[in-house]
Formats: sequence, structure tokens, C-alpha cells
Amino acid sequence: MKAIQFHRYGPADVLRWEEAPDPQPGRGEVRVRVHAAALNPKDVLVRKGKLRVFTGRRFPQRSGYDLAGEVDALGPGVRSLRMGEEVFAMIQSWRAGACAELAIVPEGELAPKPRSISMTDAAGIPLAALTALQALRDLARVRRGERVVINGASGGVGVFAVQIAKLLGAHTVAVCSAKNAEHVSRLGADEVVPYDERALEAEPGPFDVIFDVFGSAPHRKVKHLLGPRGRYVTTIPSPGHVFRDLTTRWTKRPARLVVVRSRRRDLEQLARWVDAGELAPVTDRVWPMADAAEAHAYIETKRARGKVVLEVG
Ligand SMILES: NC(=O)c1ccc[n+]([C@@H]2O[C@H](COP(=O)([O-])OP(=O)(O)OC[C@H]3O[C@@H](n4cnc5c(N)ncnc54)[C@H](OP(=O)(O)O)[C@@H]3O)[C@@H](O)[C@H]2O)c1
Repeated sequence: MKAIQFHRYGPADVLRWEEAPDPQPGRGEVRVRVHAAALNPKDVLVRKGKLRVFTGRRFPQRSGYDLAGEVDALGPGVRSLRMGEEVFAMIQSWRAGACAELAIVPEGELAPKPRSISMTDAAGIPLAALTALQALRDLARVRRGERVVINGASGGVGVFAVQIAKLLGAHTVAVCSAKNAEHVSRLGADEVVPYDERALEAEPGPFDVIFDVFGSAPHRKVKHLLGPRGRYVTTIPSPGHVFRDLTTRWTKRPARLVVVRSRRRDLEQLARWVDAGELAPVTDRVWPMADAAEAHAYIETKRARGKVVLEVG
């Protein structure tokens, strides 16, 4: 089979679409014939070696965490999936490997793909939408009627966060550049704050929840906007946010750090919303696997509107 691999950490041109041994599923694992794999900022950080404390120094390394495809082989003990079933997943392990013709995924990290959308659109859902769901439902505990800010509303996580906040019944305030304002309104945002025209810090609060997806609204800059039971969630694992997560999680005004987990029941929830027409994937650009370096360079611009996806030819 072919896979995206890199033999050293470095710029996008270290990525190679090259021959690699066919992986074999172990106990509780499934081999998926990949149709499409989505990129996330995490792929860029891993490729650059910024997360080497987790990814180590052994090469070649594989790339990609999000995929959609069909079940190609079942390891011993796998009972919940059948050969040929269409699935989607976020690989939790740092071994990655979604950007390949064949990928190994633990059974519990796979769910049946939403039926109503393409493999390409389905591949863009797992990591980003799971992050949005777990941040808003589990950490912020968004309730009906609450005012919820999504900072970075037009990116991979943001497009899902806007829609999931609505599904949870919130009044959503989306922060993005003016050029994307109409797009996030169409996704269901009730108000848009174009950050290139108005600063979020100067908006009239209070808000019940602020979800800083992009990372430009750290807690110290926006905490004055939160009401007496206001909750803050960030995606950025800075030392300050890790400390605050641990020390405020049981208080009335928690400041939490989301760390996305791959969970089948959450993927099933996302698939139900998609098939009911309540949650729409947003695919910005699609490349063939062989052009992964170009796709990585595009993600690095931090201008992607929704998801960037690689297709197996
Ligand atoms: N902790 C976790 O478990 C976890 C999980 C997922 C993601 N993350 C992190 O979350 C962050 C966002 O991920 P993503 O996939 O959404 O990234 P992304 O898709 O690359 O984000 C691109 C978006 O960022 C927006 N943006 C650029 N500058 C901005 C600014 N100053 N203020 C607000 N928005 C701005 C852009 O919108 P405009 O063009 O409109 O400016 C663009 O739509 C990344 O740092 C990622 O590593 C963490």
C-alpha cells in the first residue's frame, strides 16, 4: 500500500506518498481502506516535531488522524463492524496513519459514516467536530438560551462549534474575519463579531460561555466578559491554561482546556445530526494524497474555511 510518511521532522516537503508494508489489525483493531483523510493543525505540529515528546524520534512516521473509508479486515475479537461497512474515525494514537491507503483503527474509535454525505465530507468531521462537541456539551455544559461566544468560528473546529452551540439551544456570537461573516451566519450564528473591525474584548457582555477555538482570546483578556456563572474553554494547552483548568474546574466560573477524545458514541451522535440535516460538514479544499505538502502549506496559512481533505486516488 501507499502512505504519507516522513523520515525526519521539518517543512511540508518532508512528506512523501510512498510504498509501505500493509498493516495488519491486532486484537480489537480494524483495518480500514481509506477513501479520504482530513488534515488538522495537529498534523502540521507533528510534522514539524513540535510534539516530539509524544511522537518520539523513530522514523519513518505516518501522518493523519481523521479518515473515512470502508472496513477491509477485522482483527480478533471485533464484533461490532462488518467487512465493507462504511466508517469514519479519529485515530487517538500518536502513531497516526490516516493518510494512507490502509489504516489501523481500534474498534471503539470507529463509527458508521453518516449515510447522507460523501466520504470526503465525512473525513472532515471527527477531530474537529468531536472537539467542538466535547468542549461545548461536556466542559462548558451549554444550556438552552445561553449566550455563547465562538472565537475562530470559520475554521475547522469553529464551523462545527457554531452549529453544535445552536443544536444545544444557545444564542451564538461568532468571531471571525469580516470576509467570513456571511458564511458563519449561514451556519446559524445569531451575531457575528468581525475581529478585523471590532475587538471581542470591547463587546457588551455578559456571556455565559466563551469558547476560544483559535487562541486569540486567552482567559486573561476576556474573563471580564463572563457573567457570574460564566464558563471559559480553550483549545490551547499553554501552561497557564493547564494550571487554570486544574484549579478552577470545580468552581462557579471554570476555565477549561479541551483535550479531544475519540469516542464512538460521540461520533454516532454527530452522524445522527448530519443525517437529520442538522449539522453540515464544511469542506474548504480537497487535494490528492500525493499533494499532501501543498495541503499542509494551506493549513499553515490559518485561513482555511472549514476542512482540508486529502483523497486517495
Ligand atoms: N486541544 C484540542 O484537543 C484541540 C483539538 C482541535 C484543535 N485544536 C487547536 O485549535 C486550534 C484551531 O483548530 P482549527 O482546526 O479550527 O484550525 P484552522 O481550521 O486552521 O483555523 C483556521 C481559521 O482560523 C481563523 N482565524 C485566523 N486568525 C484568527 C484570529 N485572529 N481570530 C479568530 N480567528 C482567526 C481563520 O478565520 P478568518 O480567515 O475568518 O480569520 C480560519 O478560518 C488549533 O490551534 C488547533 O491545534 C486543539
